[in-house]
Amino acid sequence: MAKDMLDFNVEHDKEIDSSKKLKVGIIGTGWIADAHIMQYMQMPDVEIVAGADLVEGKAEAFFKKHKVEGVRCYPDHKSMLDAEKDLDAVSICTYNKTHAECAIYALEKGVNVLLEKPMCVTTEEAADIMRAEKKSGKIISIGFQPRLDPNMIKLKEVVQSGVLGKIYYIQTGGGRRRGIPTPFGTSFISKDTGVIGAMGDIGCYSLDMVLNAIGYPKPLTVSGYTSDFFGKDPNYSGYAPEHREEYAKEFGVEDFAAGFIRLEGGIILDFRIAWAMNLDTPGDTIIMGTKGSVRVPSTECWNGSIGGPMKIYSEVAGSQVETEIPMLPEGENNNFFNKIRSFLDAIKEGGTAPVPTSQILYNQMIIDGIVKSNKVGHEIKLEVPEI
Ligand SMILES: NC(=O)c1ccc[n+]([C@@H]2O[C@H](COP(=O)([O-])OP(=O)(O)OC[C@H]3O[C@@H](n4cnc5c(N)ncnc54)[C@H](O)[C@@H]3O)[C@@H](O)[C@H]2O)c1
Repeated sequence: MAKDMLDFNVEHDKEIDSSKKLKVGIIGTGWIADAHIMQYMQMPDVEIVAGADLVEGKAEAFFKKHKVEGVRCYPDHKSMLDAEKDLDAVSICTYNKTHAECAIYALEKGVNVLLEKPMCVTTEEAADIMRAEKKSGKIISIGFQPRLDPNMIKLKEVVQSGVLGKIYYIQTGGGRRRGIPTPFGTSFISKDTGVIGAMGDIGCYSLDMVLNAIGYPKPLTVSGYTSDFFGKDPNYSGYAPEHREEYAKEFGVEDFAAGFIRLEGGIILDFRIAWAMNLDTPGDTIIMGTKGSVRVPSTECWNGSIGGPMKIYSEVAGSQVETEIPMLPEGENNNFFNKIRSFLDAIKEGGTAPVPTSQILYNQMIIDGIVKSNKVGHEIKLEVPEI
């Protein structure tokens, strides 16, 4: 297939030109910021110059832990972006609630942005981010590292090759039996920080997997449902016993969501995602087409990875056949490294965002549509905002 049909063409063995160093800042120095700094530290063309976190002393402790010296630390994104005049890029690793305000402020200051997933929490915020992006002319890429997984790239190649014919129905999602994420406190489950739950944490990955494979058609309508039966239960066995009361009280997001979405081109998307459920899996991902269908095995802890070899079901000369696609190993560099590298390369080479907002807007519209449809109790029409 044509190389330009894929979003990523990271050349794993490409030599990094370190003659010009990119000055990078990290906003939010919690759990995922570890993964960012560990990749940046391996890149000879990166100088980590600044960091910010709302929690006093957290940014300082973070850089100390990673043994990165000389980093200027700030109490929030604004003070950092106001003071730092020559930043090339920031990683925004804050909880969902502050994604939009941090991204917009960075873009307004003329800084390129790598924004952790989910893009934000509402369609309106996504549109505001895109307006700031347009005005700034800077790059903003959304942090979906599973896109770099060779198996995800293969899935897209399979779909784009035409072997499945016309795609008309997709089922995706998955989840965990007992997996509400609270190992580092309540930032994922509190309404004040996470705002959205299982959808923002893992559902956005399932949506990205299939929507990216089929070329991100526009979502038209959604009928959505969300629930919080497990998260709000003080007897939920997935919480550490000493925190059960506290976490159940704090829980303000969804631990399960489902949506029935009509996409442009006559495609139905049937989606469900769970942080907790009385079931092993609500099903594999399937993409059904007029000439063939593909089944992508789910994983126990759905986090954007593929659970085993995908299988294509089709007909050859009147016989029903199945073709298994062998699992591909990760490249020389891990997917997270490649997510950051592809963003930095785009900055250096004047390229475009590896995971563009124009695509992830639709991902966000579906999540937001599920929340809004659940509130009103019926299907709603989705309107693409003017940017
Ligand atoms: N790509 C991945 O694999 C992956 C994995 C885990 C989490 N994430 C995403 O990363 C984000 C952060 O997750 P986490 O687990 O690191 O959360 P976390 O709660 O551990 O860390 C977030 C940090 O951001 C800080 N913060 C919030 N607003 C700020 C602001 N305006 N200025 C400066 N600091 C601010 C908080 O004080 C906190 O320390 C989430 O949106 C999550 O969805 C992505």
